[in-house]
Amino acid sequence: MINKSKVDLGPLYDYYEFDHTEDNFLPAVIEGLSLPQKQLSSKYFYDQTGSSLFEQITELPEYYPTRTEIGLLKTHAKEFSELIGPGASLVEFGSGSSKKVRIILDALQKPSAYLPIDISKDYLIESAKDLARSYPDLIVVPISADYTRPLVLPVIPNELVRVGFFPGSTIGNFTPEEAIKFLRAVSIDLGTGNGLLIGVDLKKDTDILFAAYDDEAGVTAEFNLNILRHINRELGADLDLEGFKHEVRWEADKGRIEMHLVSKYDQKASINGHIFRFAAGESIHTEDSHKYTIDAFHSLAEEAGWRSHCHWTDSNDLFSIHYLQVR
Ligand code: AVI
Repeated sequence: MINKSKVDLGPLYDYYEFDHTEDNFLPAVIEGLSLPQKQLSSKYFYDQTGSSLFEQITELPEYYPTRTEIGLLKTHAKEFSELIGPGASLVEFGSGSSKKVRIILDALQKPSAYLPIDISKDYLIESAKDLARSYPDLIVVPISADYTRPLVLPVIPNELVRVGFFPGSTIGNFTPEEAIKFLRAVSIDLGTGNGLLIGVDLKKDTDILFAAYDDEAGVTAEFNLNILRHINRELGADLDLEGFKHEVRWEADKGRIEMHLVSKYDQKASINGHIFRFAAGESIHTEDSHKYTIDAFHSLAEEAGWRSHCHWTDSNDLFSIHYLQVR
């Protein structure tokens, strides 16, 4: 259901809010920590501190995805623009700071609208206003929503084509089954004949992956531990951040990097009156980051109702960008 709440629109054309923001954080945490392999959803990394730690990760020398993807976007912006054509609306899933989309907007011929979707309402509105000030002829409509849930996108006057933008290889944080479900929903949200520009991280030497997810400066470790800080603050818990250490595993058969928080000793913690025990060496699984081959990603996209129109990779085959079309 759409709630249009009172927001000072300023340079924005409109604003939409879906009723997704009231998440079931406590039940999800209790359920995850009650499993034989304790787990927490990586979406709980992103409180204000987590979002700013993630921004720092993207600047780390070891974290190749962001700078490689930005390089690809810049190099091929003209080709995207020719593929997409004039009068396009861009819908960004999980827009954050809306930095990367500027590279595309600068190259597009007379884009008609930009619809950034993000759960973090205040940040979304501020970033959208900044962008609207930079592109005064563009219709900018921020949508506050959990983009993994069903959405009905607003109708934009005079748009000729609608293109989704999902950079950063966030698709890798879904299991392949979740990724198919999400891509299917996006094809329905966008409608037949439309396209999706999506960033996908590639399989590579595990040394590069270990360095990227366990950096020298310890920022990723802080980012991982911050999930406990977030739970302590929001759910009145007493998880001891000093009692856990960041660990990265490569699961070859699943083609994914996993992040875990490993308990340094036997301990217990209380979360809203529920007591959880952690044995020495026991881990909480906090994130999956799947890495694909081009072929494996194409099959996944096909299964979700998309056809690969073309893709681009960097000279070291670290990262890929795909332009998919709804079949
Ligand atoms: C947001 N996502 C694509 C990042 C990734 O690489 O899977 C999150 C991240 N986790 C640790 N470092 C970065």
